[in-house]
Amino acid sequence: MTIRRARPGDARELTALAHAAKRHWRYPARWIRRWRSDLTVTAAFVARHPVYCALRDGEVLGFYALSRARDAGELELEHMWVRPDLVRAGVGRALFAHLVRRMRTLRATRLRIVSDPNAEGFYRRMGAVRVGAAPSLPRGRRLPVLVFRPEGHGLRRGRGYGRGEGGPMIRKLSSGQYRLYSKKRNPKTGRRRNLGTFKSRAAAQKHERAVQYFKRGG
Ligand SMILES: CC(C)(COP(=O)(O)OP(=O)(O)OC[C@H]1O[C@@H](n2cnc3c(N)ncnc32)[C@H](O)[C@@H]1OP(=O)(O)O)[C@@H](O)C(=O)NCCC(=O)NCCS
Repeated sequence: MTIRRARPGDARELTALAHAAKRHWRYPARWIRRWRSDLTVTAAFVARHPVYCALRDGEVLGFYALSRARDAGELELEHMWVRPDLVRAGVGRALFAHLVRRMRTLRATRLRIVSDPNAEGFYRRMGAVRVGAAPSLPRGRRLPVLVFRPEGHGLRRGRGYGRGEGGPMIRKLSSGQYRLYSKKRNPKTGRRRNLGTFKSRAAAQKHERAVQYFKRGG
């Protein structure tokens, strides 16, 4: 599987995939029709936004799209769709891992996700935290709103991104120093606590070991 930037010429195929993926949840056809504009990816949109698709043998397996959100440093997840016959086969995780790398390159600190209720578990698995709900259509429908922060993600050992709490979390700062973060996230903000800044990774690791030692009552 490869992931590449989508081209305006892919727009029609991406739109068809978004519709097919949404139908995976067996929504009534009239709801799908109502969501048509949300499920449509135009060539102009692809030309102006970061849109990336996963391919195998020239066939699109899934894609995601980002847009700038209101706050500086914040991106919005506009699309995340996997072909229905490939759901739960790891395509979403690969796309999300790519997205995290894009966020780092774009220096984005937050990703806002308005999720289909059926997909919320996937985003939580990737490390996103629920922060609220947003009204949708048809009237009365509400969608989970989640926030994902890339800080610390991918630094842990173990499988992929967002495996619960994990740890220790040490990030290299642009100053060349190393910052240690708490393993647990604050459930309200979704952020890890800053536990200190150190000259070297070894010093941060030493501090982490000391914290663990005291926690165990040593
Ligand atoms: C939601 C979606 C993007 C996830 O992609 P995927 O390729 O199916 O997910 P993966 O196989 O990479 O799964 C990664 C992990 O998330 C979990 N997961 C995937 N979909 C999940 C779901 N709907 N609910 C809970 N957990 C889910 C998997 O079990 C896996 O967990 P693991 O770490 O224990 O192995 C994809 O299923 C999809 O497009 N669904 C239909 C359309 C949709 O709702 N899109 C999202 C719009 S907001």
